[in-house]
Amino acid sequence: MRQREHLTPYGNKPMVTPIVSAVNYEYVSFEILRQITEGEIDGYTYHRDDNPTCRAVEKEIALMEKAVDCIICTSGMAALTMIFLTYLKAGDNLLTFHDIYGANYKVSLILEKFGVEVTWLNAAEPEKVAENIKDNTRMIFCETPSNPLVKIVDIEYLRRQADRVGAMLVVDNTFATPYHQSPLALGAELVVHSATKGLGGHNDLMAGAIACSTKDYYDQLWFTRQAIGTTLDPFPASLLERGLKTFEIRAAKMSENAMAIAEFLSGHPKITRVYYPGLESDPGHKVACKQMKNGFGGVLAFDVGNKQSHAKKFVEKLKTIYHAVSLGCTETLVCLPVLTTMLYLPEQRRTTFGVKPNTVRLSAGIGDTQELIADLKQALE
Ligand SMILES: Cc1ncc(COP(=O)(O)O)c(C=O)c1O
Repeated sequence: MRQREHLTPYGNKPMVTPIVSAVNYEYVSFEILRQITEGEIDGYTYHRDDNPTCRAVEKEIALMEKAVDCIICTSGMAALTMIFLTYLKAGDNLLTFHDIYGANYKVSLILEKFGVEVTWLNAAEPEKVAENIKDNTRMIFCETPSNPLVKIVDIEYLRRQADRVGAMLVVDNTFATPYHQSPLALGAELVVHSATKGLGGHNDLMAGAIACSTKDYYDQLWFTRQAIGTTLDPFPASLLERGLKTFEIRAAKMSENAMAIAEFLSGHPKITRVYYPGLESDPGHKVACKQMKNGFGGVLAFDVGNKQSHAKKFVEKLKTIYHAVSLGCTETLVCLPVLTTMLYLPEQRRTTFGVKPNTVRLSAGIGDTQELIADLKQALE
């Protein structure tokens, strides 16, 4: 655990980082102002630049991701957009996968407006990366496991491909979380999180985080955040700090529940397919065993019957499992991706890469395993 640096006037230390709501700070002297602005000391001047509550959380996430430093910001999408804005320019190629969170598609339309070319591949066909990488490919971006079909891409393989043209590798680690996967150790330059999910874990905050492999990456992303003002408020940062204290216990229980649920559903006659890298039959299992640890994460997907009405009926019959988007929180949640997270996508892109109208995504919470399975069982009757 981090050293608590914030002293009370009597010298004793609070158990949590104080919420510093100040947006403005008095300069004690011109010399201190110079040291802060030249980065010699970790001081504070104005909230858009930095905030002590946020800084404490950044240091903690950096430790978890084995990173040199970390930048937190207002949401996962803000984090991704900051990365694209910082490292891509007109004429560059971004190589990515259809199997990523839906709102990235919207961001790709904005990037294209500014002259960035985006190549979309199917994560289930990794060999296509070698065929599609180009001299102007500046970045490879993937999610593994991906949203929503939990497809696995081999991070070390992407690293080798990126090295052919000197591209950066960015991995969204939201589904795996640092409990199950350390992409920086596998060769990524940056690891991005929707901290709204497993890191926060309680459906009560929105934040993004970017763990950086070098100080240069931290400085460049700090520049972008300071310029565009995606700095996180201290209150959600404080909630995030609280979430991090129980993160590992939650991640372990979610993964245990997801595995038990995947096994239960695999044997159920009304379930036509289960997607979970923990199952030996899953196409991503072998690579997942190589690059993940402590289990395979808390999210899985499955197809109910063969029509959307079958999936809808199942969801409506659930009693303790919630019908809601988001994931990685204490409650168990289900949603139909084609009606929620993928709604933004053009019709033909929603289902081309494996998601079906009757696919359900489930994010396992920390509840009792047998109670969750009993709820699923009764909803499938
Ligand atoms: C894998 C993944 N990355 C990024 C995001 C975006 O995060 P946020 O909702 O915090 O902007 C999401 C949201 O669901 C996600 O699932």
